[in-house]
Amino acid sequence: MPHRPPMGWNSWNFFGPGVSDRVLRETADALVATGLRDLGYRYLVVDDHWHGGRNDDGALFAHPERFPAGIAPLADYCHERGLLFGIYSCAGNRTCGREPGSFGFEERDAASFASWGVDFLKYDFCFVPPDRDEAFRRYRAMGDALRRCGREILFSAAEWGACQGYVWARDTGARMWRTTLDLVDYWDEPRIHTNRGNSILTILDLQDGLERYQSPEGFNDPDMLVVGLQGKGHLGLALSRRPLKPGCTDREYRSHMSLWCLLAAPLMLGCDVRDLSPATLETLSNRELLAIDQDPLCLPCRRIRQGPIFSVYRKPLADGSVAVGILNRSPWRAVFEAQPGTLLHPEEPGSAGPAGPAGPVRIRDVWAHADLALPADPSVPVRWTVESHETRVMILGEVRA
Ligand code: GAL
Repeated sequence: MPHRPPMGWNSWNFFGPGVSDRVLRETADALVATGLRDLGYRYLVVDDHWHGGRNDDGALFAHPERFPAGIAPLADYCHERGLLFGIYSCAGNRTCGREPGSFGFEERDAASFASWGVDFLKYDFCFVPPDRDEAFRRYRAMGDALRRCGREILFSAAEWGACQGYVWARDTGARMWRTTLDLVDYWDEPRIHTNRGNSILTILDLQDGLERYQSPEGFNDPDMLVVGLQGKGHLGLALSRRPLKPGCTDREYRSHMSLWCLLAAPLMLGCDVRDLSPATLETLSNRELLAIDQDPLCLPCRRIRQGPIFSVYRKPLADGSVAVGILNRSPWRAVFEAQPGTLLHPEEPGSAGPAGPAGPVRIRDVWAHADLALPADPSVPVRWTVESHETRVMILGEVRA
């Protein structure tokens, strides 16, 4: 298994229950045609509602009208195009959409998935008693079944952190685990906490303190990206029933992308990749940002500063440099000021000495794709304008002689 945050696309955010063989093949083609596959978005995952039922032998089968040839030809179609194929099931006896779940059928279902050519399983948490031991047993049962099924299938635990799955999911065989409830296509105001959906900033803030559960062997999953949904699709519908106006600005989507990459989160697209605006494609295709997400250290960022306007996040990178994200939460443009050295080497709580290197620092602006001109003296502060809801991302490194 690659020791990098998995990347791909998942059907839920846009298609919801409207998945079919046709839209998934079109999506596979679009992942190739847009260049997203070549950037690393390789898993194509069908979420809930692919199901037809269980036959008399207890085997799952796909919906006969929407998947007339079953799942295997669709997985083949993906493989032929250099993609990997993922599917969805649940640790309850029903999925969240009340389709048949895998509880009690773990071996059986893992064998079906393997025989269809599945490479990834998202495993949900509906209809499970909210008990940590029971949750562990159920995820372990599927993790064991996948290990024995004869095919490498990446196990993604979608337990939402309800029973602190981020603490134990790794021991079930999972390689990524949801830390929080569903993310919706909504920036923040008013801030919403519901049992069905949370804003980008709510989900971001709930990641604080969970950094220690992540390593190159397993990833905290703050949920799929909402970049580019623009209030459309299944998530948009769900939100507008609240009633709240769904959708974010392109700048907010760039922020969301920046923050998920700083978190070293799995990057599962949720928008309709058959119909991408140029701005969305550019946001999803920023190679410098993707390299931060995929950095071999796999360390999530930590919040190193919080003020009334700015949150500052810092993520160490394998080459000794650091990625820094400066998020402006306010409704106004604002100027951020700092000595580069204090971002590169922030002062540890309790330490006496001054932070920062003695020598010069280089700074790369990841969205401008440019090296920034710096004062010769590294103790002179830099000043960066950050627009409302923007996250500026910089890579800082010491200049070695
Ligand atoms: C939720 C899950 C979503 C989606 C949905 C399908 O529990 O968090 O990502 O999979 O179920 O019904």
